[in-house]
Amino acid sequence: KKKDEALFDEALELIKKKNALLIAHYYTSETMQRLCEAAGGFIGDSLEMARVGRDSDKDLLLVAGVRFMGETAKILSPDKTVIMPELKAECSLDLCCDVEDLKKIKALHPEATVVAYANTSAQVKAQADWIVTSSLAVELGKYLTKQGKPILWVPDRHLGSYIAAQSDCEIYCWPGRCIVHDSFEENALDFVKKENPDAKILVHPEAPAAVVAKADYVGSTSQILNYAKNSDCKEFIIGTEKHIFYKLMQACPDKKFIEAPVVSTSGHCISCANCPWMGMNTLESLIRALNDPEPHSVHVDESVRLGALKPLDRMLSFSA
Ligand code: 13P
Ligand code: SF4
Repeated sequence: KKKDEALFDEALELIKKKNALLIAHYYTSETMQRLCEAAGGFIGDSLEMARVGRDSDKDLLLVAGVRFMGETAKILSPDKTVIMPELKAECSLDLCCDVEDLKKIKALHPEATVVAYANTSAQVKAQADWIVTSSLAVELGKYLTKQGKPILWVPDRHLGSYIAAQSDCEIYCWPGRCIVHDSFEENALDFVKKENPDAKILVHPEAPAAVVAKADYVGSTSQILNYAKNSDCKEFIIGTEKHIFYKLMQACPDKKFIEAPVVSTSGHCISCANCPWMGMNTLESLIRALNDPEPHSVHVDESVRLGALKPLDRMLSFSA
């Protein structure tokens, strides 16, 4: 405990000394989110993280999240130094979407508008017409449907089917999945709902369609948080990564939050949804990054960056 407090103080001191802006995602540990609050940093969903990094006047951005979040910050702010506690913090969606495979699929659907989820590499983004985060996906789906063009969507199959169901668009969907959200299961959820009949179910759209179908509300991490804050309801079952509970309980201390159950491949109920890559953002790795930035710096090849910037800018203008 003493050691943790000393590390926390050391990290806080370093952030101030280096004049860095710490930008953290809700799925990082409670310690990381507390540090972010103490350092005057920003905690948000992936769209907000991108916007805040771009608009900051600080020269050093410290992104506590997964790699695509650091890459997005660098693409939008090439003149800033963007560092991450752990460059190996991946995302299963990013990992399952190979750029060469995408090029082949694109060639099969030349008429389609390529829409890539933000949870992809810079190379994949550079192949896309549009980037979206979960908070914008349905809105963009509806917008593109009005234009009458089919969508080639990569890489999350569940978010893809949710966009299709909500916007009625023609969509070719990549078969990727988030290992965390894919584990939510509808029968186990029914069981928890039976025990908490008054609770509303709030779910991230990366969850399977059968789980999303049972939700009272579907949205990004920030949208789930806002829904819980503004609702008259006092109890919620939460279908997203467990570290969002820190902000949920801070924002709504008088409300009850229950974890939607996660089921392992062997069919056993395990208690929580935990993203292992987000967990790589520790105080130790953050201190290492601030003390020795170069091995923790995000670099994006300039031609790839320019390719990825176009659809990212389009997304940010669409959401403005
Ligand atoms: P949000 O954009 O909702 O924060 O989602 C990011 C993410 O990685 C969800 O798993
Ligand atoms: Fe990627 Fe899923 Fe982790 Fe989000 S929770 S960063 S989508 S693996």
